[in-house]
Amino acid sequence: MNIILLGPPGAGKGTQAAKLVEERGMIQLSTGDMLREAKASGTEMGKKVAAIMDAGELVTDEIVIGLIEEKLEGDTGGGFIFDGFPRTLPQADALGALLEKHGQTLDAVVEMRVDDDVLVGRIVGRAEEARKAGQPVRADDNEESLKIRLMEYYKKTSPLIGYYWAKGDLKSVNGLGTIDEVQAEIAEVLGA
Ligand code: AP5
Repeated sequence: MNIILLGPPGAGKGTQAAKLVEERGMIQLSTGDMLREAKASGTEMGKKVAAIMDAGELVTDEIVIGLIEEKLEGDTGGGFIFDGFPRTLPQADALGALLEKHGQTLDAVVEMRVDDDVLVGRIVGRAEEARKAGQPVRADDNEESLKIRLMEYYKKTSPLIGYYWAKGDLKSVNGLGTIDEVQAEIAEVLGA
C-alpha cells in the first residue's frame, strides 16, 4: 500500500507516519527530514536549501522530486508513506509518473484537517518544549516562518485536495483529536 499524508505544518503528518511504520512496516519518505539531513551534513544541496527552508518557503520541485526518485529505486517494504510530498501540482504529477514507472499505484491520500490556531499552538509548543529540554529548535519553528509555511500550504499545496478528490483517492480525517484518536481514524479510512 502506498499512501500520501497531506496536511498543513503541524497537522501531525510525521507523528502519524511513525505510527504507520510501526503498525504496518511501511517506509516513511519525508522530504522535510531528507532536506534537514542534507542541511545538517552541509552537502551542496543542503547549503542551497537552508535559507529557503528556514524562511518557511518551499524548495524547488526539481530538488524534492529528485530526492523521491532516488528512494523509489530502493526497497518498497510494506509500501511507502509520502510525508510532506507532494506539495505542488507538478510534484503530484511527477509522483504519479514515478509510481507508474515502478509498476506501483497510489492507494490513498489522507488529508489531515486541523484549524490554524491549533497548528500554531502545536508548532510554538514544540519549540518551547525543545528550548526547555535544552534541545535544538527547528529553524522554521517560529511565528514568522510559520506564517510563511501556512501561506505556502494554502497557495501551493491545498490545490492537491481537489486534484486527488477528482481522482477518487482522497480520504479526509479530523486531525484535531488526540494522537491515538487520529491514528484510529486513519486506520479506519485505510481499512485493515
Ligand atoms: P516538513 O518537514 O514537511 O514540515 P511541515 O509540513 O511544515 O511541518 P511539520 O513537520 O512541523 O508538521 P507535521 O504535519 O509533520 O506534524 P508533526 O507530526 O511534526 O517541511 C519543512 C520544510 O522543508 C518546508 O517548509 C519546505 O521548505 C521544505 N520541504 C519539505 N518538503 C517539501 C516539498 N515536498 N516541496 C518543497 N519543499 C519542501 O507534529 C507537529 C507537533 O504537533 C509535534 O510536536 C507533535 O508532537 C504534535 N502533534 C502531532 N499530532 C498531534 C495531536 N493529534 N495532538 C496534539 N499534538 C500533536
